[in-house]
Amino acid sequence: MREEQHQAGVHGDAVIELSGLGKRYGHGKHTLTAVKPTTLSVPRGQVIGLLGPNGAGKTTIIKMIGGLITPTWGSVKLGGYDVARQRSHAVRQIGAVLEGSRNVYWPMSAWENLLYFGQLKGLRGAEINHARSGCSPS
Ligand SMILES: Nc1ncnc2c1ncn2[C@@H]1O[C@H](COP(=O)(O)OP(=O)(O)OP(=O)(O)O)[C@@H](O)[C@H]1O
Ligand SMILES: [Mg+2]
Repeated sequence: MREEQHQAGVHGDAVIELSGLGKRYGHGKHTLTAVKPTTLSVPRGQVIGLLGPNGAGKTTIIKMIGGLITPTWGSVKLGGYDVARQRSHAVRQIGAVLEGSRNVYWPMSAWENLLYFGQLKGLRGAEINHARSGCSPS
């Protein structure tokens, strides 16, 4: 464990920590509690799935984990970094492909999309070539 992660408060081997995380959309009379306060700790190496009927709040949870929307209650830590307070460190710990049509640029090839998003994520030179060796562009 790196020192700054220790200071940021990683509990054990947890890489994703939700603490009382919840979301209410809307204002006044027109509010909807999409996610009731939820606490969850995901250890390193564990694969989990969020299951639930349409409208259960799965995407809302993923968006809060990724820092794309602000929680109404609670907090998220990624690799020990708080998404609200240490945003740039926190979001660097994750990658996400969300549902919908705005995740990739259709005029570009799959490989060009990987290069583009890899560079946005900070991949440079040798790292890109290393990543390239893992897949073959068409
Ligand atoms: N931006 C928003 N403003 C208001 N209400 C929203 C917003 N986004 C989602 N909701 C509502 O919050 C609830 C949870 O939505 P969410 O998209 O998180 O569910 P989901 O589990 O991902 O559903 P699905 O399985 O259909 O993808 C739903 O009632 C939805 O209509
Ligand atoms: Mg969804």
